[in-house]
Amino acid sequence: MARTVITGAAGLVARELRSQLERKDDVIALSHSELDIVDEAAVRRVFRVLRPAVVFNCAVIGVDECESRPDLARAVNVAGPSNIAAAAASIGATVVHFSTNYVFDGARGPAIEAPAASRPGRQQPAAASDFYTIGDEPRPVNVYGKTKAEGERAVIERCDRAFIIRTSWVFGHGKESFLATAAQRLRNGERVKAIRDIWASTTYVVDLVHRLQEILSVGGPATYHIVNSGTCTYEEFAREAARLVGSAESFIEPVSESTLMRAPRPRYTPMRCLESERLGLLPMRHWTAALADYVSKGRAQAIPPSL
Ligand SMILES: NC(=O)c1ccc[n+]([C@@H]2O[C@H](COP(=O)([O-])OP(=O)(O)OC[C@H]3O[C@@H](n4cnc5c(N)ncnc54)[C@H](OP(=O)(O)O)[C@@H]3O)[C@@H](O)[C@H]2O)c1
Repeated sequence: MARTVITGAAGLVARELRSQLERKDDVIALSHSELDIVDEAAVRRVFRVLRPAVVFNCAVIGVDECESRPDLARAVNVAGPSNIAAAAASIGATVVHFSTNYVFDGARGPAIEAPAASRPGRQQPAAASDFYTIGDEPRPVNVYGKTKAEGERAVIERCDRAFIIRTSWVFGHGKESFLATAAQRLRNGERVKAIRDIWASTTYVVDLVHRLQEILSVGGPATYHIVNSGTCTYEEFAREAARLVGSAESFIEPVSESTLMRAPRPRYTPMRCLESERLGLLPMRHWTAALADYVSKGRAQAIPPSL
């Protein structure tokens, strides 16, 4: 059994990782209160004692908090990963570090019609060249993206065995984010504001961890993009969620990104994974199939055991 350490263990991706990896590995999941990745000495001490073969760094400061607390963003998203990579290298461990589509500026992409007041902007079907790959230079537009891009570089510089896993708009159980809660809120008859003018790949956390395990078993250290197939806006995601739970689309209020978000977001950042293609891995299922799976699992969990 390989010993595996997960940092930032109370988060969305970390919890799914733990649940899937525990079936085969000796997993030690450390929450923020158990290991602060900014504390370099603590990271070294913990790795020296536990001697993991693989470390998954899931600790992060999110997009809007990065904008209001740039010093904390730099500490957790840059210095923290750097500490982890150096400590891992000193014991010969592999690092898996998560990153984001928000390292890109989102300035490319197909032509998008100017949105009419009453309906969302519609994009042309995306061409392969509209997807960001590892061949594209990071050019972040917000503090989160800047610190994540720097964090990637710090990890690669300090550890030879580094897997950088960029993912995008992750949804799954247990997070109070728009993507994670939209279906349930619509099912409850709540009104939902949904951004209509930014596009990205979206990713079911269960699929993310499945694909990550495939990559770790057949691939080497590199930068990978792990996302479900297809592209959407938050509004399109909400409309699909409404269809799946049988809710009226009138509960969805399309809004512009600038009215809802504090930190600026890149406009168009769908991704595809050249490294996975090179390894012969098939594209991941379409996000609508992944969302249907997520929604059906939520419904199953909501049924009381007595029924
Ligand atoms: N969720 C997405 O949509 C998405 C999209 C693209 C990329 N990613 C990437 O995926 C990774 C995981 O994201 P996530 O959404 O699962 O994160 P999350 O749910 O926000 O969880 C992040 C965790 O990091 C912990 N943390 C914060 N500061 C820490 C520190 N100094 N030391 C140790 N732990 C600390 C937090 O604990 P406290 O709350 O106790 O501080 C929290 O449990 C990140 O690298 C992120 O950039 C996520």
